[in-house]
Amino acid sequence: MILITGGAGFIGGNFVHHWFERAAKLGLAPEPVVVLDKLTYAGNPATIATHLKSGQATLVQADIADRDAVRAALATYQPRLVVHFAAESHVDRSISGPGEFIHTNMVGTFSLLEESRAYWSGLQGEAKAAFRFLHVSTDEVYGSLSSTDAAFSETTAYAPNSPYSASKAGSDHLVRAYHHTYGFPTLTTNCSNNYGPYHFPEKLIPLMILNALDGKPLPVYGDGLNIRDWLYVRDHCEAICQVLEKGTLGEVYNVGGINEIKNIDVVTTICRKLDELRPRADGSTYESLITYVTDRPGHDRRYAIDPTKIQRDIGWSPAETFESGINKTVAWYLQSTEWIDTVRSGAYRDWIAQNYADRSA
Ligand code: NAD
Ligand code: DAU
Repeated sequence: MILITGGAGFIGGNFVHHWFERAAKLGLAPEPVVVLDKLTYAGNPATIATHLKSGQATLVQADIADRDAVRAALATYQPRLVVHFAAESHVDRSISGPGEFIHTNMVGTFSLLEESRAYWSGLQGEAKAAFRFLHVSTDEVYGSLSSTDAAFSETTAYAPNSPYSASKAGSDHLVRAYHHTYGFPTLTTNCSNNYGPYHFPEKLIPLMILNALDGKPLPVYGDGLNIRDWLYVRDHCEAICQVLEKGTLGEVYNVGGINEIKNIDVVTTICRKLDELRPRADGSTYESLITYVTDRPGHDRRYAIDPTKIQRDIGWSPAETFESGINKTVAWYLQSTEWIDTVRSGAYRDWIAQNYADRSA
């Protein structure tokens, strides 16, 4: 049994799918999963419905900051490891409302660490030696790169620039301290931008796909020349599995796709794909919907990951190119209308109205 926090979100949900598909591919018995998730606006049980129905996965709806609930879940399910995805994850929301980010990413991670450490301290022999706590973090903790800076390595100094990245940096430091001080068996991964199925449509790629299909403006922040290093979500999930199996306790592994792309190029790639697969009724191109809007405050210019360590020490490298990954992603959004309808609730519409109302074109 393994425990996954945030397993009803984008990456956590993909991880649940990957966990079972990987076991099947390797001919291993499926190891059950307990998902501990608060089910915020970003958490959706429909993402993992097949595994909940089959009984391979169990959902515990709880806040990671609720120590009684975390303690009870650990005592009940006795996991052999914890993979910690749960977080508030959207930079724009952290700018308009940082409080939840401090609550979940810092206080929540602290609570989870405390309860996991108490649980681990009570384990004996093999079970204690084999226990792992893997903390899923982000490249944003390293700050922003200029066009000539070297990519982020594990020794790059922390320089978080948004309330989101500052709260993730705080959580990384806590995880590091729990290993250093208490010998708690931690592993940390700092990954670049993910994309793929089940991505909540507040983030760049799914927002652009769904706005385009609705004939709505495609809001590109600033000059559109900010760069992100895009990784297909299943490649990230596989990296986490391999770090769990082969990682050295207390170590940090940067995970990235060596796929640096300017935002405007991501958006035009999506537009061209949609022109091919779902041409507009009036014959115009989706690119005609692109609208440059007011920039994100403090917008980081460039992220890039140097994945040398995980490639060398773990033997992981991504299976997807951006071309193959974006094809799968666009195809998934074209087919998944039911899932899309469940996430585009009233709360989603309120967020879109709030975030884009004051961004003049
Ligand atoms: P997401 O916002 O899609 O999902 C977050 C999940 O956590 C949701 O299911 C939500 O309900 C749950 N959650 C939020 N607060 C909670 C709380 N207090 N208690 C329990 N559950 C709670 O996020 P994501 O994009 O899947 O990111 C997952 C993790 O990966 C985060 O830690 C994020 O910082 C990290 N990360 C994300 C990316 C990316 O590109 N999305 C890249 C690198 C690292
Ligand atoms: O780098 C990893 C991080 O990637 C994760 O830690 C975060 O959880 C995840 O949200 C993501 O952060 P970004 O801020 O890079 O992702 P987002 O999809 O919000 O934006 C990607 C880029 O696109 C960024 O430069 C801002 C820009 N953008 C975004 C939106 C939502 C736009 O131009 N228009 C938009 O409407």
